[in-house]
Amino acid sequence: MKVGELERFGIPVQITERWKKRQGESLLPIQQKAIRKKLLGQPGGERKQKEQNMIISAPTSSGKSFCAEIAALHALTARRKVVMLFPLKSLAEQTYQLLRETYDSLGIKIIIVTSDHPENDHAFASSDFQIAVCIYEKFDLFLTNSLDRLKTIGLIVVDEIQTIAEPGRGATLERLLTKIKSSVYTPKIVGLSAVIGDDSSSAGKLAEWLNASLVEEQSRPVDLIRGVAAGGLYKFRSFNNGDDGEEPFAVVEAGDDPFNVFAEQLKASDSSTLIFLKSRMETVDAAFRLAASVSWPEAKDALSQLADEEPSFLIRSLRQALGRGVAFHNSDLTPQQRKIIENAFIGKEVKALFSTTTLAMGVNLSADNVYLETVKYSSGRYQSRPSLVPVSRAEFDNMTGRAGRYQTTQKEQIGKAVILAESEFDRDILWQNYIDSYDADRITSVFDSQPFADWLLDMIACGLLKSRDKDAVLKLYGKTLASLTANLSVKEQIEPAFELLESLGFIQTSPEFALTELGRAVSGCGLAVAESAYYTRNLLENFPHSEIGWLTFVLSATGWNLPPSILSRYEQSNNLPLKMFFSQYEYSADELRLLLGEKLSSKPLSYRQSASLKALLLLEAWRSLVPLERLEEQFQMHLGQIRYLGETVAHLLSAVAELAASLDRDTEVKQQLAQIAFSVRFGLPYEFKSIHRYFGAFLNRKDYAALQNAGVFTIEEFCRLDQTELNLFFAGKDKVMNINEKIKQIKEEVHVDPRTNNALMNESGLASMLFAEPEMIEIDGSYDRERYLVKINGFPVRLTGKSFKYFVKLAWSRLNGESGWIYKEEIEHGFNQARYLYRMKGEIGSGLNSNWSIFENNRLGYYRLNAEPSKIKINIENLRNHPDFEIREMVEQKMSEKRVN
Ligand SMILES: Nc1ncnc2c1ncn2[C@@H]1O[C@H](COP(=O)(O)OP(=O)(O)OP(=O)(O)O)[C@@H](O)[C@H]1O
Ligand SMILES: [Mg+2]
Repeated sequence: MKVGELERFGIPVQITERWKKRQGESLLPIQQKAIRKKLLGQPGGERKQKEQNMIISAPTSSGKSFCAEIAALHALTARRKVVMLFPLKSLAEQTYQLLRETYDSLGIKIIIVTSDHPENDHAFASSDFQIAVCIYEKFDLFLTNSLDRLKTIGLIVVDEIQTIAEPGRGATLERLLTKIKSSVYTPKIVGLSAVIGDDSSSAGKLAEWLNASLVEEQSRPVDLIRGVAAGGLYKFRSFNNGDDGEEPFAVVEAGDDPFNVFAEQLKASDSSTLIFLKSRMETVDAAFRLAASVSWPEAKDALSQLADEEPSFLIRSLRQALGRGVAFHNSDLTPQQRKIIENAFIGKEVKALFSTTTLAMGVNLSADNVYLETVKYSSGRYQSRPSLVPVSRAEFDNMTGRAGRYQTTQKEQIGKAVILAESEFDRDILWQNYIDSYDADRITSVFDSQPFADWLLDMIACGLLKSRDKDAVLKLYGKTLASLTANLSVKEQIEPAFELLESLGFIQTSPEFALTELGRAVSGCGLAVAESAYYTRNLLENFPHSEIGWLTFVLSATGWNLPPSILSRYEQSNNLPLKMFFSQYEYSADELRLLLGEKLSSKPLSYRQSASLKALLLLEAWRSLVPLERLEEQFQMHLGQIRYLGETVAHLLSAVAELAASLDRDTEVKQQLAQIAFSVRFGLPYEFKSIHRYFGAFLNRKDYAALQNAGVFTIEEFCRLDQTELNLFFAGKDKVMNINEKIKQIKEEVHVDPRTNNALMNESGLASMLFAEPEMIEIDGSYDRERYLVKINGFPVRLTGKSFKYFVKLAWSRLNGESGWIYKEEIEHGFNQARYLYRMKGEIGSGLNSNWSIFENNRLGYYRLNAEPSKIKINIENLRNHPDFEIREMVEQKMSEKRVN
C-alpha cells in the first residue's frame, strides 16, 4: 500500500503530496495494518460512520506516530477537531513542530497547550483550533471544567499510553479516559505504545477496556541487536529474528580505569553514540572526560545557539564538551537547551551524547549505538532522598529503541544497544532480565495511587455524577480500567469520601446535591483534595502578609514534588538552610511557623522541611535577579532544576489564588499571588512583567539585570532606549537587531503623544490617556486598612507602607529640594530601591488607570517626581505622627528650620 492510496479514504491530494515529499511514497507495515483494520474507516465510506477505537502496539521506531498523523488529517476532512496527548512537554513540542512545518502553509490551525504556552489556553478552551497538542494533565482538567468540550472533537490520540500504569500520573490518564468513555460523546480514541506487549498481555486488556481494535506489529523496520557486555565480550540477540551472537568488547584489565577503556572503544568508532547513565553528575563528568581525549570537530551550530545563555558553570562545561563534538543531556539543562543538544545529535554535530533517562521516551532521535546502565536514581514515593532503582522493562525498551531508527534520508544500518555490566555474573543476570524474558511489564490500573475522594470529586465536577447515590458511583467505577484489571473494593470507600468532601465544604447535599464554589475551584485548579484542604484551612487560619509569607505558605504543603536531590546530606545535617535563612531574613522568622512548626531552634529539621526551606531561599534569590552563577555556587543547583522548581511553585501559587478567590472575592490577593507567581516562574522581579511580555523571547536574566541597573523597568522606558544604550545593555548584533525590530513594531501599534513624542501604552499595548500629569497631588497620610492615603486629582489611592514612604520622599525633594532630584540612597539605604520604586508605581498606576509616568530617572541613580512643585500638597500634621522614623525626622527637621528662619 502506498501513500497515494490514502486519497481513497478522503485524504486530499495536497496532503498526500506533502507526505510523499517529506518521507517518500511507502507506508510502513504497522501503518498498512492499521489502515486495513479501519483506522480510517472504509474507503469512500460514509464520513459519519463510526470508526472504531484503536490500540497500536508496535516496537520503537516502527512508525506509530505517523499512524496518528494520518488519522488526524482524516478527522479534519470530516470537519472534526483533533487532540493529541503526550506525557511529556518535550514530546508535545516535537510533534507540534513537525505538524506546523508540514501543515502551516495549508492554514490548518494547530496549537500547543502546555504550561509553557499559556497564550493558547484561551483558544483551547473556546475550541478555536483544529489540532491541539497537549499534555495529559492539562486535558484532564479541561474536561473536568466542561465535558461538553468533547462535542466537536473527533479524534483523541494518546501517545505512550503505557503511562497509564505509572503511579500518580497513570491515575490521571485513566480518569481522563474514563470521562471520555462515560460521556455521551464518542470521539475516536487511538492509543500508541511500544511497550505494552500483545493481545495476550497488557495490550489486549487496554483494547478491551477502550473497546478498541488492537493492531500489533512485532518487527522493527530497521533491526536492532541488543545485549550485554562484560569481560571482553558482547553477547547479543537480534530484535527481529531472535538470533543470538557474540562480539569482542573492550577488555578492562586489572588496574585499568573502565571509563578509559570504554572511551577508547568510542574513539575508534565512527558511529553516533548515545550513552545512558544513572545520574546527572555522571553525564557531565563522562562528557567532560571523553571530550578531553578526542578531537572531533566542534558542534558549531549548537555552540552558536548557546552563545546567548545567561552565564553559568554548567553551560561553560557544556560548551567545552561541544567544542570536541561531545555533549550531555539531563534535567539540569532547560528544555530549550536540551532541544539544542538533541538537534545537534540528530544533525551529527555531536557524536557522543551522555544522557540520563530524560531522553528515553519517544523523542524521534536516532543513534547508531546505544550504551546503557540498567539502574537510575528515582525519588521515592515518600519524598525523601532519591535512591537507585532498576530501570523498568518499558524504559529499557524505550532507551534501546533510540538505536536503529528508520530514516528515509540515510542508508539503513542495524542499530546496536549494549548494556554495560560490571561483571560476568552481572552479565548473565541482566541478560535474563532484559533480553531473554519476553514479558513486557504487566499493565495494571494504578487507580488506587490516587485517593478515592479525588476521583469522586472529579466525577462530580465534570457532571458525570449528579447525586450521592452509591449505585451511580459504582456504575461509573465500572467504566474504569481498575474495575477490569485490579481487585479493589471501592464500595466501602464511597460513603467516607462523600463525607470528607462535604465536611471540607467542597460539596453540599442540601438543599440539593451540588459542588460548592470552593469545590469548583478545587477541581479546577489541579490540586489534590488533601492539598486543597490544607491550603484552604490555612487561608482561614494563617493568612500570610508578606511575599516570603506566601512562598512559605505554598511550600509548606507536602503534596508537591521537590526537585530530586535538592538537598545534600551535608546541608541537611548541618542545618544550613535554617542558618542561611536567619542570616538573611531574620525579620521574617515568624513566617516560617507554617513550614517548621514551632521548631525554630537549631536542631536538624526533617529532609522535607529543610529542603523546602532551601527552596524558599533559592526562589527568593532567583526572583531578585541574583546571577545564575552565584545561585549555582550557593545552592548547588542548575538552571533546569531551578526553573522546574519555579514552575512548580508558580503553579501552586496560581492554584492557591483560585482557592483564595473562591473563599472570599478578594481580588487583591489574587493579583498579589499572580505577581509572585510571575517572579518565581521567570526568575525576574515582577516589575519587568511588561518588558517580559514583549521581549521575553530575546532577553536573558543578565539582560534584565543590566536594565535593572539602569532603572529601566517599563515597556515605555524600554522603547525609548537609544542605539548606544541598546548596544551597551545587550551583547550581539542579532539580538539588538531583533529588539529594534520589535520596538518598531510596538511603536507602530500604539499612539504617540504629539507633545512629548513618547509612546503611551498600558499593559495591553493600547494607548489610554487620561492625563499625562496630575493637576493635584495630596499626600494625606491617613491610615486605613493597612494602607496610607494619597490623593491624586482628588482620587484616593492607598499605598502600602514602603510605597508610601518612597512617594513621600520623592514628593518631599520635589517640593523642597533645589532641583527636585533625589539620590536612591537618600530614599532608602541598600540595593533594592529601583524595585520598590516600581512597586510603588504599580500601586499608584493600578489605582489610577492613567499614563502618568509618576517619576523619571537619570540612569545615574537619581529620581524625580514627575509633577510641578506647585501641584504638591503635604499634610504635615499627619506625617509628624507617621510610624516611620525617617519620615517623622524629615518633617521635624523642616519645621525646626522654619522656626529658625
Ligand atoms: N511511511 C514512512 N515512510 C518513511 N519514513 C517513515 C514513515 N513512517 C514513519 N517514518 C519515519 O520513521 C521514523 C520513526 O517513526 P516514529 O517516530 O513514528 O516511530 P514510533 O513508532 O512512534 O517510535 P517510538 O516508539 O520511539 O515513539 C521517523 O523518523 C519517521 O519520520
Ligand atoms: Mg512515537
